Amino acid sequence: MNKRVEQVLNDQIKKEASSSQFYLAMASWAENNGMNGTAKFMYSHSDEERFHMLKLVKFVNERGGKAEIPFIEQPPKEFRDLENVFELLLEHEIAVTQSINDLVDICLQEKDYTTHNFVQWYVSEQLEEEALARTVLDKLKLIGGDKGGMYMFDRDLENSTITVAAPN
Ligand code: FEO
Repeated sequence: MNKRVEQVLNDQIKKEASSSQFYLAMASWAENNGMNGTAKFMYSHSDEERFHMLKLVKFVNERGGKAEIPFIEQPPKEFRDLENVFELLLEHEIAVTQSINDLVDICLQEKDYTTHNFVQWYVSEQLEEEALARTVLDKLKLIGGDKGGMYMFDRDLENSTITVAAPN
């Protein structure tokens, strides 16, 4: 496999693994603060990111490269409030989108059309994930810290009216 493409795919493996840990930290924080709906949403989002990572690991190995299982820095233990959690989620997803776009660009520069085709799945996924994070954040901004509204918001998440797309 093209060495430059292999390197950026390995960088992406680390980013997806870091996303999974980051959202797991958010899930645990939410659970400890009585926000079970948010916890459920974040646990499932964390699983989804692990799936994104695994898909890359398998692709690199199947194409004759070597997937590297990365060292992950510890995510934050505390978050200011729910809005802060979802702001960080959106910020994080925007950064991941940027790195997927860079990956697409490198595939084209290296004329690696197979990887380019594979990465299209991530391009669509990022569109959905950013849109979802924006929708949730807009809801939170509407609520504006109202306790009753927060309760309903968390309950909505618990009843999975808003969910992360299932892996496919
Ligand atoms: Fe795998 Fe949320 O990006």
